[in-house]
Amino acid sequence: MTKGQQQYEGKAKRVYATDSPDYYIVEYKDDATAFNGEKRGTILGKGVINNQMSNRLFALLAAHGVANHFVEELSERETLVRAVTIVPIEVVVRNLVAGSMAKRLGLEEGLELKRPLVEFYYKEDSLGDPLITAETAEVLGWATADELQKIQELALQVDAVLREFLKERGVILVDFKLEFGRTRDGELILADEISPDTCRFWDAATREKLDKDRFRRDLGGVEEAYHEMMTRISEV
Ligand code: TMP
Repeated sequence: MTKGQQQYEGKAKRVYATDSPDYYIVEYKDDATAFNGEKRGTILGKGVINNQMSNRLFALLAAHGVANHFVEELSERETLVRAVTIVPIEVVVRNLVAGSMAKRLGLEEGLELKRPLVEFYYKEDSLGDPLITAETAEVLGWATADELQKIQELALQVDAVLREFLKERGVILVDFKLEFGRTRDGELILADEISPDTCRFWDAATREKLDKDRFRRDLGGVEEAYHEMMTRISEV
C-alpha cells in the first residue's frame, strides 16, 4: 500500500491517503500539546510508543469483538488503518475522578465512581472541546440516536477490556478518550489512538502518574513514564 497525499494533520498525527479509498496511513509525531494547543512541546520517542501501544490495544480490543480501524503496523511510526470519517465527538470514559471532572465539580482526584461514566465532548479545539449531552449531538445531526447508543455500549466495553488488561500489569485506568468513525459503507468503528496521550494511567501501588499529565502539569519524567507504560503493556 503506497503512501499518498496527506489528508489531515492533527496535533499528534498525520493521516495520508493510500492507493485504496478504504485505507489510510497514520503517522505518529513526537509533538505534544495540552490545553487545546496552548501548551506545546516535544516528547522524544512518543510517536513510536503511541503507535505501538495503540496497535497492541486495538488488536486486544478486536480480539474482544470491538471493531476498530487498526489493520497493520507498517513501521515504527506508521500504521495502515481503515479509512473513516471521524464523528466530531470525543467520548470520555471515567472510572475515577480526575482532570476536568475534578476541576468542574470541585472534587478530589482519585475519588472512585459508583460505575464507569461515559461523557461526550464536542471535538472543536477553538471552543475548548465543550461537554455536551448525547441529545445535543443527536439534534445537531453529529450522530444518530442508534450510533450514540452503540458508542455508549462500545465505550463501556472498551473500558472493561482495558481495565482488566491493565490491572494485571499493575496499572489503574483512571479515564480515557475515544473517537469513533464511519467507514465508506457507514459502519461505525473505533478509531484514533489509545495511548498515554489519551488515557490517564496510574501505577496501582504508588498512584504515580504514567501518562501525559506529566507533561500537562510539568511533573518531569515524561519520556520515562511513556516508556514504563510501553514496557507494562508489552508484558505477556
Ligand atoms: P479531562 O479530564 O481533561 O476531560 O480528560 C479526560 C481524558 O481524556 C484524559 O484521559 C485525557 C483525555 N483527553 C484527550 O485525549 N484529549 C483531550 O483533548 C482532552 C481534553 C482529554
